[in-house]
Amino acid sequence: MSLRTITKLAVGAALIALTSGAAKAGDNVEVLHWWTSGGEASALDVLKKDLESKGVTWSDMPVAGGGGEAAMTALRARVTAGNPPTAVQALGFDITDWAKQGVVGDLSEVANAEGWDKVIPTALQNFSKYDGKWIAAPVNVHSTNWVWISKKALDAAGGKEPQNWDEFVAMLDKMKANGITPLAHGGQPWQDATLFDAVVLSLGTDFYKSSMIDLDPAALSGDKMKEAFTRMEKLRSYVDDNFSGRDWNLASAMVIEGKAGAQMMGDWAKGEFLKAGQKPGTDFVCIRFPGTQGAVTFNSDQFMMFKVGEDKQKAQLMMASAIEDPKFQSAFNVVKGSVPARTDVPNTAFDDCGKKGMADLAEANEKGTLFGSMAHGHAVPASIKNAMYDVITRHFNGDLSTADAPAELAAAVAAAK
Ligand code: GAL
Repeated sequence: MSLRTITKLAVGAALIALTSGAAKAGDNVEVLHWWTSGGEASALDVLKKDLESKGVTWSDMPVAGGGGEAAMTALRARVTAGNPPTAVQALGFDITDWAKQGVVGDLSEVANAEGWDKVIPTALQNFSKYDGKWIAAPVNVHSTNWVWISKKALDAAGGKEPQNWDEFVAMLDKMKANGITPLAHGGQPWQDATLFDAVVLSLGTDFYKSSMIDLDPAALSGDKMKEAFTRMEKLRSYVDDNFSGRDWNLASAMVIEGKAGAQMMGDWAKGEFLKAGQKPGTDFVCIRFPGTQGAVTFNSDQFMMFKVGEDKQKAQLMMASAIEDPKFQSAFNVVKGSVPARTDVPNTAFDDCGKKGMADLAEANEKGTLFGSMAHGHAVPASIKNAMYDVITRHFNGDLSTADAPAELAAAVAAAK
């Protein structure tokens, strides 16, 4: 018997002991999440069915709203009432914030038995663990510095994928001249911030780190930040009049239907294109936001587990184990548009955008150009993120000038610290 087989058997035995065998009637997970768009719901279904096949039933607690702000509000109410759901979709610093309050569960037994430490990148573990304990099971890695372009609109605009800011602007100008909305966008603070993530990164990886992660006042208020806001102002000129409040998936639909040329959005957008039957390379094209190739701003959806009664703990552990199964990681992420949270999952089942996503993530991790997304709670805690959202959105809506925005940003961050 090989060492590998023995290890596998030992892990299996440990898990059986841990979960006292197969699920029994009554093993149920109540899951709070915000995956309500077509593509997101299809991905969630992969998880639901996987758990059902293992005898764990699913009670759905969806709270619509991209980026999860409304879901986090709903969560707060449940935890305050002393009745948290079994598992909660959560991002980055939100997980840490809950852990600090001492209300989260402990997945360490299953995580240690299955060797998660060796296969989940440190950048993710930083949020999945607190005080040495595993408190959340990462299901994917998304990234925010992507552009999703209609192939037809790109061909009509000359067919060349833009490599830098000037070429991007030239492409958008041609799309405008061709009579379509160049940039599909939904005016919600988290979406404005998603654009901002990419724009800041395009001005340099050092700049992203110093401004969005280290919160250096000079970087936040300086000339480069002014350039970032100048670019945001330019992007605003390519958005249609009805952008305010639009959901992100409706913006994706504009590109899918050929009404708009491109969308700057995380790779959950790919889930919408796939759901609509579109194929990468044929119907749509995925590129890194011009000027950001080689770097990645990531966010990872994790299922954070709260302290629950003993009757529910087994189901929690079963869910966590199911999520980290390499086969599940592949099946789920192929549909979701994200890439696996484990480094040992083959890319064979993924389409070209997925393969590119996996290669880009590995490259950025290697080069030290992998950064947490500010827009999606992986660069700074929610209090600072919200302060940034406010300035970015006011500027995007024309309520704050480009000249004043950098100083406002620095001041808002200082006040929130
Ligand atoms: C992100 C989340 C993604 C996707 C997106 C839009 O914050 O990580 O999984 O759901 O919001 O809802």
